[in-house]
Amino acid sequence: FQPKVLAGQHVVVTAGPTFEALDPIRGITNHSSGKMGFSIARAARDAGAEVTLIAGPVHLPTPRGVRRVDVKSAQDMLGATLQAVQTAAIFVATAAVADWRPATHSEHKIKKDGSGKPPVLHFVENEDILLTVAQGARAKGGDLFCVGFAAESENLVEHAKAKRERKGIPLLVGNIGPLTFGQDHNSLLLVDAKGVRELPRAPKLTLARELVAEIAARVPEYVRS
Ligand code: C5P
Repeated sequence: FQPKVLAGQHVVVTAGPTFEALDPIRGITNHSSGKMGFSIARAARDAGAEVTLIAGPVHLPTPRGVRRVDVKSAQDMLGATLQAVQTAAIFVATAAVADWRPATHSEHKIKKDGSGKPPVLHFVENEDILLTVAQGARAKGGDLFCVGFAAESENLVEHAKAKRERKGIPLLVGNIGPLTFGQDHNSLLLVDAKGVRELPRAPKLTLARELVAEIAARVPEYVRS
């Protein structure tokens, strides 16, 4: 039995990697499996929320009762997210969004030119979806509760605290190492204005349910503040 702590709330979750195309055949992506984001979507739905799950390319079934929007690139994900959050109370950004995309997208396959010299790739920075959403919500004077994730290879607590401040969000969740891509278990570090708390190692769905309860407990206070 799941208490319906998010009944009637619209929750938007981004999940998985993005795929930044170089040409029709190739592109750049990362190892995010989407499992944490899909688990959060399922846990939020079980808590009574209406859930929009914006998914990069992953191999996971859609949790029952969740509205799924499939995207490929970071730019697609930004567009879908900006639209979905218009009616949302909570935004959880779990996606491992590519920081850069190739500056140009070749319409045809890039071929070896026989010179023996590899092509030189140029990149441009992708927009930070979470930052854009959080800033937009603040500018509108809204009370969208934004949650970010951080995967770091060192100094997680310092990086997580700094990231929360930089993004201007009430809650930042750190993946406690080792890197958990594709794994079914994880442990999480919750960083908010009051301090730091650990959710010990558990299956991702268990952690997702605990995180949803933590978010639900914070939202009313956030709305009032
Ligand atoms: O700054 P960093 O990429 O480490 O921040 C990670 C957090 O920001 C995650 O919640 C991730 O989903 C979000 N993010 C985003 N758009 C980006 C980069 C990160 O939404 N372009």
